[in-house]
Amino acid sequence: MRQGLTRRIPVAGPSITDQEVAYVQEAVRDGWYENANVFPARFEAAFAAHVGLRHAISLPSATSAIHLSLAALGVGPGDEVVVPESTWIATSAPISYVGATPVFADVDADTWCLDTRSFEACITPRTKAVIPVDLYGGMADMDGIRTIAASRGIAIIEDAAEAIGSELRGSPAGSFGDTGVFSFHGSKTLTTGEGGMLVTDRDDLHDRALVLRDHGRRLGDTMFRNAEVAFKYKMTSMQAALGLAQLERLDELVDAKREIFDWYRTELADFEGLALNQEPAGTRNSYWMVTAIVDPRHGRSKEQIISSLRGEGIDCRPFFYPLSSLDAYRDMPGRIDAERRNPNAYRLSATGLNLPSALSLTRDDVAAVCHALRSALTDD
Ligand SMILES: Cc1ncc(COP(=O)(O)O)c(C=O)c1O
Repeated sequence: MRQGLTRRIPVAGPSITDQEVAYVQEAVRDGWYENANVFPARFEAAFAAHVGLRHAISLPSATSAIHLSLAALGVGPGDEVVVPESTWIATSAPISYVGATPVFADVDADTWCLDTRSFEACITPRTKAVIPVDLYGGMADMDGIRTIAASRGIAIIEDAAEAIGSELRGSPAGSFGDTGVFSFHGSKTLTTGEGGMLVTDRDDLHDRALVLRDHGRRLGDTMFRNAEVAFKYKMTSMQAALGLAQLERLDELVDAKREIFDWYRTELADFEGLALNQEPAGTRNSYWMVTAIVDPRHGRSKEQIISSLRGEGIDCRPFFYPLSSLDAYRDMPGRIDAERRNPNAYRLSATGLNLPSALSLTRDDVAAVCHALRSALTDD
């Protein structure tokens, strides 16, 4: 442990004020009977306004939002869905839930998001959908992806789980697909503890998702007569109250994330052989996780660097291992030459790590992390 350290430096975590506590108290006390849907409805309306789309459906997680999106789009057995290699498995696992097959594409070397040409190369007559991921707050080339998807009749589910507050050409993350999904897990910039949101401008997908998320009850059903076997995916009133209070503070939360990133950028400016998250022209990165790709010249794997930092009381996470490298996908066809086909994902993963990015961090915390990182890379 670092000398004088009284607490570990957390990798992620929220900012909670009296406003969140007051809203949740109100929900616990009054969010029942005829008021049961007041906070979910307010949260959804405010969220739809944030992304500039007609519909937002509050859910237990982003995983369920991806599952519902695929189911509402009619993706099923025999279909293929393209996903980037570099993401949390929650992006791809729901593809298996609906009986379809994930196809892993490479990521762009700079944005770390789905590479447009690799996406195009993965398309077959079976491709039904693509799930670009706004990784760590970065934005994919959504114009290029949308052009290809539209010309081939492929639906887009934008996985903005990590990117609330990011923008591309002035439009918010999550607004570029047939559906967009967000996560409000406790590690996220906006949290409800666990939670998620599905957003869409398409009335048909909205209506279908509402039926599927409520055990197949037709819209307006009051007699509990189910039309089909489906799912149960709802957010509680208490979570929605927390989410609404957080959403009202979104600018402040994103500004804090950007400030944390700036502290790192300043501290590490003179350190050679380290690349941090990019913010290409026309994008605004909300920097959910400050992420460093260490040049191989330092001779350290991410596992070694993370282990050194953890020993100093500093929690870090690995850059996502390529999905095709996971035991979970050991039987995937095409896994054998995935490293050759998707070199960027494999290269970034070898030396990439997420640095502490919790909203509770101070400038001194960041200075301590950077000091420990320099030592981990230079000490013999
Ligand atoms: C890129 C990405 N997609 C999906 C998810 C799933 O979110 P949830 O945990 O809310 O299901 C996460 C969560 O960390 C994520 O990072």
